[in-house]
Amino acid sequence: MSRFDDLFLSELERAEALGRRRRLRVVEPLDGGRVRLDGRELVDVSSNDYLGLSRHPALIERARDWAARYGTGSGASRLVRGTFEPHAALEAKVAGMKGTEAALIFASGWQLNAAVIPALLRAAREDGPPLVFADELIHASMHQGLRAAGVKPCRFAHNDLDALERLLAERSGEPGRRFILTESVFSMDGDRADVARLADIAERHGAFLYLDEAHATGVLGPRGMGLAGLAPGRVDLIMGTFSKALGSMGGYVAGSKALCDYLIGAASGFVYTTAPPPPVLGAIDAALELVPGLDAERAHVQAMASRLRAALADSGIDTAGSTTQIVPALVGGEAETLELARGLQEAGFLAVAIRPPTVPEGSSRIRFALSAAHGQADLERLIQAMAALWPASVHA
Ligand SMILES: Cc1ncc(COP(=O)(O)O)c(C=O)c1O
Repeated sequence: MSRFDDLFLSELERAEALGRRRRLRVVEPLDGGRVRLDGRELVDVSSNDYLGLSRHPALIERARDWAARYGTGSGASRLVRGTFEPHAALEAKVAGMKGTEAALIFASGWQLNAAVIPALLRAAREDGPPLVFADELIHASMHQGLRAAGVKPCRFAHNDLDALERLLAERSGEPGRRFILTESVFSMDGDRADVARLADIAERHGAFLYLDEAHATGVLGPRGMGLAGLAPGRVDLIMGTFSKALGSMGGYVAGSKALCDYLIGAASGFVYTTAPPPPVLGAIDAALELVPGLDAERAHVQAMASRLRAALADSGIDTAGSTTQIVPALVGGEAETLELARGLQEAGFLAVAIRPPTVPEGSSRIRFALSAAHGQADLERLIQAMAALWPASVHA
């Protein structure tokens, strides 16, 4: 109890009244894309562990090895204590795989976006207030970076690159450097941006292209290394995470050497935080070795996603513009979405209801995230469960 608990309790009551109080649930991760929840084994269609690598023996073993060799923690930030050889080696590996001059790793993808965006915009300040053009659905961490920079973006309709071009043209007479912020795969819709066209637009308008590849890394593009590979050398900054398909934790920037050298001293979330710890680096290292060879796993995930989309469409369910391993089932109302998630749990699936503010009002959904660890039988059971639950929960 604290003297200030009244503040927090009234906020919690407000959230409760709106049906938006968030609670944590304890789950135990299991093999085969499963978790145990309240003593029951469920097929987990809520995780971003798209390749099932978080339980891969090679990652576990290298995490153990590197803990034994280098210790469990890094002890301080890299500028204070010095960088460990594995940090530098991993960055060289990421840069090689992304085809960029350099790379820089961060403790998390959220922290990266929140810290790198203000650093970038600060570098551009001499030329007048920077102009930022952002897809309306960019991730919360990028909004955090924009807020920290005190910059209000011009938002363009989701994935509408004609609208982006119009906005850039409308503001063409204004001073200031241009930045385009978007994602290659959108986390809640599972659709893709046209990266080659984005690169064309950025070049035509002299704009800096910032591409978040959190949900593409490991899963899409040449050798699974993301969609920026479809526009080689033409994306100014690629960010991605090791925390999703790569089964571990952390974020990376891939770009020019000058950009990465600048961020070492300018990105607050790099300078003032402890370096990612050796066991995590070990897991990332092993994942990066495996990823190029996982074409069969990637094909399996995408084939399951196509089958799920087709089956949901047969039941009249809107899957937004999904073309990836993320397949949303759009419900609309929050209560109905929660009801559907409960029904799916009874049927043996951990499928989470995604509601505002994570997604726009009126677009609550179940976000299915498929993994190579799932089998065809899991998918067929999921399809049957959705067909049985859909009319009852949504049209009740
Ligand atoms: C598009 C996008 N960018 C960045 C992040 C943050 O990455 P991390 O989970 O590594 O902090 C996420 C995580 O949900 C995301 O979906």
